[in-house]
Amino acid sequence: MPHAVTENCIRCKHMECVTVCPVDCFHEGENFLAIDPGACIDCGVCVAACPVEAIASDLTPGIEEWLEINARLSAAWPKITHPGIPPADGDRWRNVPGKRRFLSDRPGRGS
Ligand code: F3S
Repeated sequence: MPHAVTENCIRCKHMECVTVCPVDCFHEGENFLAIDPGACIDCGVCVAACPVEAIASDLTPGIEEWLEINARLSAAWPKITHPGIPPADGDRWRNVPGKRRFLSDRPGRGS
């Protein structure tokens, strides 16, 4: 079972997870990354790499919504294999509650 990117990523999008992923399972949206559940090998190295603790295992309580979001959006967005430049105001959004409403369905550029 895969890991999933969760709400803390929205508008932070630090992308250290992309650097450490051994199977390139991340896909890029405008303000969020999503994990392809078919590519993720559940190694968990991205969990420790994310500075805002946005990545969780499928065993985390309440993760079901984010597993669905990651599966749906990763299928629609381009793969990202090299981290880009994080949003200039990303640190301002660290641990801000209620960011779910800002999640954009628009794709990022990928790489
Ligand atoms: Fe998001 Fe954390 Fe990766 S903020 S882009 S899951 S390093």
